[in-house]
Amino acid sequence: MEDSRIAAPIGTNLDRFINAKEQHFAYATGELSQLLRDIALAGKVVNREINKAGLINISGAIGTQNVQGEEQQKLDVLSNIRFIRALTKGGEVCAVISEEDEQVIETGSESAKYVVAIDPLDGSSNIDVNVSIGTIFSIYRRVSLVDTPITKEDVLQKGVEQIAAGYILYGSSTMLVYTTGNGVNGFTYEPSLGEYFLSHPNMKLPEEGKIYSINEGAYNSFEKPVKEYISHCRKSNYSGRYIGSLVADFHRNLLKGGIYIYPKTHSAPNGKLRLMYECNCLAFIAEQAGGTATDGEKRIMEIQPDELHQRVPFFVGSRKMVEKAKTFFK
Ligand code: AHG
Ligand code: MN
Ligand code: MN
Repeated sequence: MEDSRIAAPIGTNLDRFINAKEQHFAYATGELSQLLRDIALAGKVVNREINKAGLINISGAIGTQNVQGEEQQKLDVLSNIRFIRALTKGGEVCAVISEEDEQVIETGSESAKYVVAIDPLDGSSNIDVNVSIGTIFSIYRRVSLVDTPITKEDVLQKGVEQIAAGYILYGSSTMLVYTTGNGVNGFTYEPSLGEYFLSHPNMKLPEEGKIYSINEGAYNSFEKPVKEYISHCRKSNYSGRYIGSLVADFHRNLLKGGIYIYPKTHSAPNGKLRLMYECNCLAFIAEQAGGTATDGEKRIMEIQPDELHQRVPFFVGSRKMVEKAKTFFK
């Protein structure tokens, strides 16, 4: 059943929405709902820390002894701690793949059914300059039987196997956007109430757009098809918009229509973005919103990951724009 058909008016709080949706979900056991709530809660904690980051730096400069050791850690490390703790204590997840950890984190919840891939804080270069950053996550069902050791097949799953994915954008307002495979819904966080409320039901990526997002500073090291597509965008008078936080760039394009590209470069021969906790999640959301995602040739969600931190070239956004970009690769 389509999410849009679930009676959930704008302003419905996230808990109520998740509960309503659970009744329409094929595996309505409540565990996925609880897992989504755990992620949303950790997002609130991280949001609070991001909002006070500047102040902590100031007080840290005056007297570092007054600041907890943990608070002095960089926000991406701190966010990792917050999310891993939430996922571990929540008990619904047996393994986590995180950008911040080289190896798979086994949570100890061996009877848990889910595997999570996460970029706890995306947009690190924007952390210290008060520009939007985010968290990106994917949820998979484990392949092996519960109460048996975690296998390679449990963690290295294709994007098409995702059962949910989403992101939290810490921007001028904080938003949680997620899908469980029946459309995309966006919730805005109301800090004084400490709750997320449905603000963007059944989000749709415009088929066509006029925004292209790519780090044009690296132009000289792009492949010919990418240069040709940029030339097409310039001739078409498209607007170049690039924040440098994938979540924020993606979110803007989701609302307005556009394409985000992180291609191969000389210094990043497979692109920079990571398949498992950046590209697959946003590809799933894009597809659920009517858009598409490719590495230039293949559908992102059909790429078989060989390693946890694998990188892929990434083209995501409005369907017609991504299709156009692909024509230059033929
Ligand atoms: P992260 O902060 O998780 O390492 O990701 C940074 C990524 C992504 O958010 C952004 O789109 C991209 O790096 C920007 O890279 P360039 O500075 O090379 O454009
Ligand atoms: Mn990232
Ligand atoms: Mn990150």
